[in-house]
Amino acid sequence: MPRLTVIIASTRPGRIGGRVADWFTGIARDHSGFDVSVADLAEINLPFLDEPHHPSEGRYLHEHTRRWSATIAEADAFVFVMPEYNFGFSAPLKNAIDYLYHEWQYKPVAFVSYGMTSAGLRAVQMIKQVVTTLKMMPVTEAVSIPLRQAVDADGQLQPTAGMHSTAVAMLDELQRLTAAFATVRVPA
Ligand SMILES: Cc1cc2nc3c(=O)[nH]c(=O)nc-3n(C[C@H](O)[C@H](O)[C@H](O)COP(=O)(O)O)c2cc1C
Repeated sequence: MPRLTVIIASTRPGRIGGRVADWFTGIARDHSGFDVSVADLAEINLPFLDEPHHPSEGRYLHEHTRRWSATIAEADAFVFVMPEYNFGFSAPLKNAIDYLYHEWQYKPVAFVSYGMTSAGLRAVQMIKQVVTTLKMMPVTEAVSIPLRQAVDADGQLQPTAGMHSTAVAMLDELQRLTAAFATVRVPA
C-alpha cells in the first residue's frame, strides 16, 4: 500500500486548515488506495531554515531536520492542504519544502486549496513552479474550496457533494501517478 502524507500548510491559530484536512483525510482513508498519515506544520513547528548546508547534501545538523526528513522520505505521495495568502501559498509550507531535497523527488503531489476569493487557485498555480523544481509531479485534478460558500455562519466547513467527488477523482489520479513514479524513484 503506498503511503500518502497529508501536509497541513496553515500554522495559524484559529485556522480552518485543520477542519479541511480532517474532512479530506476521512475521504482519503475511505478511498483505501493509500496508507494515510498527516503531517501538521503547526505541530512540527520547524524554525525558519537553519541548516548551513544545501539540503541536497543531506548533511543535517539539527534533530528537527532529521525528523522532518524521515517523515517526508517515508511517504510515496503527498496532498498539500493549503490556504491562499496574498495570492500565494503560505510561508510555512515554503519553509518546510526548502528544508529537504531528495526526500521530495519523483513523488506526486496533489492539492486541496482554499481561500476567500479564489478557492486557493492562485496559490496552487504558484506552488507548481516550486514542486516541479524538486522533480515532484503536480496532479492536475484538485480540490478548490471557496470558503465563502463552503463555511457556515458558525465557521464550520460544509463540504458539498462536488467537493467529495472531486477529492475522489484527485485521489484516483494520485494513485495512478504514485504507482508510475515508484518505478523511477532512486533508492535512498
Ligand atoms: C495573511 C492572509 C492573507 C490572505 N490572503 C488571501 C488571498 O490572497 N486570497 C484568498 O482567497 N484568501 C486570502 N485570505 C483568506 C484566507 O484564505 C482565509 O482566512 C483562510 O481561512 C486561511 O486559511 P487558514 O484559516 O487555514 O489559515 C488571507 C488570509 C490571511 C490570514
